[in-house]
Amino acid sequence: MTVLITGGAGYIGSHTCVELLNAGMKVVVVDNLANGHIKALTRVENLTGKSVPFVQADVRDQDAIIETVAKYNCDSVIHFAGLKAVGESVEQPLDYYNTNFAGTVSLLTALQQTSVRKLIFSSSATVYGQPNYLPIDEAHPTSATNPYGRTKLMVEWLLQDLFTSDNSWTIGTLRYFNPVGAHESGLIGEDPKGVPNNLMPYIAQVAVGMRKELQVWGNDYDTRDGTGERDYIHVVDLARGHVKALQNLNDPQCTEINLGTGNSYSVLDMVKGFENASGKPIPYQFKPRRAGDIATCYADPTKAKQLIDWESEFTLEEMCRDHWNWQKQNPKGYTEDGDN
Ligand code: NAD
Ligand code: UFG
Repeated sequence: MTVLITGGAGYIGSHTCVELLNAGMKVVVVDNLANGHIKALTRVENLTGKSVPFVQADVRDQDAIIETVAKYNCDSVIHFAGLKAVGESVEQPLDYYNTNFAGTVSLLTALQQTSVRKLIFSSSATVYGQPNYLPIDEAHPTSATNPYGRTKLMVEWLLQDLFTSDNSWTIGTLRYFNPVGAHESGLIGEDPKGVPNNLMPYIAQVAVGMRKELQVWGNDYDTRDGTGERDYIHVVDLARGHVKALQNLNDPQCTEINLGTGNSYSVLDMVKGFENASGKPIPYQFKPRRAGDIATCYADPTKAKQLIDWESEFTLEEMCRDHWNWQKQNPKGYTEDGDN
């Protein structure tokens, strides 16, 4: 089995390459390196002892997709390629609709000209909007409050419409909760551009001395300690969810699956977890709530267990340990020596 991985040079894509290769599958990566790193793929090769063919191309380049599928005899696609910063999506909506939505339309149009009819798509728990109930199962109503979320939701609708029109497709839409951590080797991990928006990379940069202190956005939520609670999931667990989805989604269908642990941790739980893992203090200050944030969000992961035989395995301690291991070995990410 050869899997075409769009966006495979990114955070989740590179970890998924490792797990697919370890499971005996072959991969080929298409990435335009807008956010990804070629070094991540070299390290995937070193970790697995297997080769990772790489095509530097935009996901909207239909000729490149068709040629790559033919050249490597791909039988399935995992579609990670996209832009993911919520704030940036408000400022640059055209880029987000163009890359995330039009990019997927273009990819699917290209795939229709090949024999590939199996696709795994990276969606997000952001499509649930403000939770009506917890834990959140896949039947929860969807809504979106920002352009990034709307592009994810629009792609979900597009995939359902495509399947309605042509039920030879097998499509798994994976709704990720909050991915954190890194491969246990510390060789690959998350390398955010600029000031991190997300909690874990920010905490990690405080621990390594790049930032002075964490701003905790709100301590007056109706939660255990007043700070926001999320379902943090180890990126290796998430990557294995893709392997299971490819292996176990075989009949034609278009289905949405939560990838979360079913647990929730507060901002202060994460601070404490990271302090324990790193042995470094994480100074923080409480600040007003961040616009658009919700109090609590965590998954009901039952469907993933039933349908694709997947469940998370890593603990909070392991997420913090591995995230710290990556950060301390690569304080400036992949670009330390000025290359990509
Ligand atoms: P990432 O930015 O590390 O990886 C995305 C990859 O896509 C990068 O390597 C980038 O260079 C590539 N890319 C971007 N635009 C492209 C284009 N036009 N053509 C080809 N390649 C392109 O992000 P990630 O965290 O690995 O996220 C992967 C996917 O998962 C994204 O679709 C994201 O929206 C989704 N997701 C991420 C999270 C998260 O918190 N990390 C949560 C939910 C969903
Ligand atoms: N937080 C802080 N300080 C920070 C960063 C975050 O206190 O510097 C808090 C937030 O207020 C929230 C929690 O930490 O309570 C988690 O925030 P993140 O930004 O890490 O994650 P979100 O749940 O807000 O959003 C993330 C992605 C979305 C995605 C969603 C679900 O950014 O794109 O997870 O997958 F949709």
